[in-house]
Amino acid sequence: MSLDNRFPMLAEDCNSLLCKYLTPEVFDALKDRKTNNGFSIQDVIKSGVENIDSGIGVYAGDELSYHTFSELFDPIIKDYHGFGVDDIHQSNLNPDDLNAPNPDPDNHYIISTRIRVGRNIDGLPLGTAISKKDRNLIEKKVSIALNALTGELSGTYYPLSGMSEIVREQLISDHFLFKAGDRFLESAGLNRNWPEGRGIYHNDNKTFLVWINEEDQLRIISMQMGGDIKAVFTRLTTAIKEIEKKVTFSYNDHIGYITSCPTNLGTAMRASVHIKLPKLGADMERFKTITDKYYLQIRGIHGEHSDSEGGIYDISNKRRLGVTEVQCVQDMFDGVVALITVEKGL
Ligand code: ADP
Ligand code: ARG
Repeated sequence: MSLDNRFPMLAEDCNSLLCKYLTPEVFDALKDRKTNNGFSIQDVIKSGVENIDSGIGVYAGDELSYHTFSELFDPIIKDYHGFGVDDIHQSNLNPDDLNAPNPDPDNHYIISTRIRVGRNIDGLPLGTAISKKDRNLIEKKVSIALNALTGELSGTYYPLSGMSEIVREQLISDHFLFKAGDRFLESAGLNRNWPEGRGIYHNDNKTFLVWINEEDQLRIISMQMGGDIKAVFTRLTTAIKEIEKKVTFSYNDHIGYITSCPTNLGTAMRASVHIKLPKLGADMERFKTITDKYYLQIRGIHGEHSDSEGGIYDISNKRRLGVTEVQCVQDMFDGVVALITVEKGL
């Protein structure tokens, strides 16, 4: 589908934040603007126009997109994160500030814990607008930096090009690797030249992983079985510090770490557990009352846009901007404690 200079046809039953905030007046004000990388409002909205079931529906092409198209991004950011134009974002990656003793030491409920952050390279367009050459350069630069890591973080980079289908599918079903062909990313231009320039780095026991050139140029991930949230957070923060010695990430004092989707701005952090909650799962209204109270999101067992299986859910923090990384993990921890308490009583 090609989008022209006219206000797009948006379905009546569209519930995305794009459809909520893209009025003809906003579109008119933005329709002739472009960022320094040539990213236009048509590029920003393409995924949400083509995928009318989007929850959000917009992507940025670069840091400047958030400024150039602020009439659309600002209300979307306010709606999703509760973060206004005069609010201040602050980072805190100090594990000593986190109060999260294992909420399930006997492993009755929590299967595994995972915390990831998104990062993009300073001075380059985001994956939505990047050239093949720059994408490949990122893969090279980042994989060299990762391959030099030592100790627990020491591992190997596996490019997607040349990876056997069996290995790729196993990595996906074991929750380590991103899927191929996501239609939201496809429309946003994030799958161009697939699979070239993409890959995964991981240590031997797959507790530390980095995705290269998926939705963001890096997704830095720490994960392990069970509910030791603090250990997972500590490993992640150590890894981020090590990588930052070699690579400079795009960061803005107002909106934090720059990411291609506005839901990830700020901390770009999603801290989650895979948790067995079959009784609460049978009472979604009650389940959602608790997750809303603690600013949590419910996903299915195979990540975003997947379903739950066997009463197991992916529970994670929803807010990422205007809260520190410690607070993101604290939101998840506090909510998980509440969920376990209710599940036990049912
Ligand atoms: P992202 O976390 O990058 O936003 P997804 O929601 O698609 O993306 O999740 C990516 C993968 O990570 C999926 O395979 C998902 O099942 C897996 N995952 C997420 N949270 C956990 C967890 N706590 N334990 C194990 N795997 C997880
Ligand atoms: N663009 C998709 C939508 O609007 C995903 C949004 C949030 N998830 C993400 N992976 N960025 O529904």
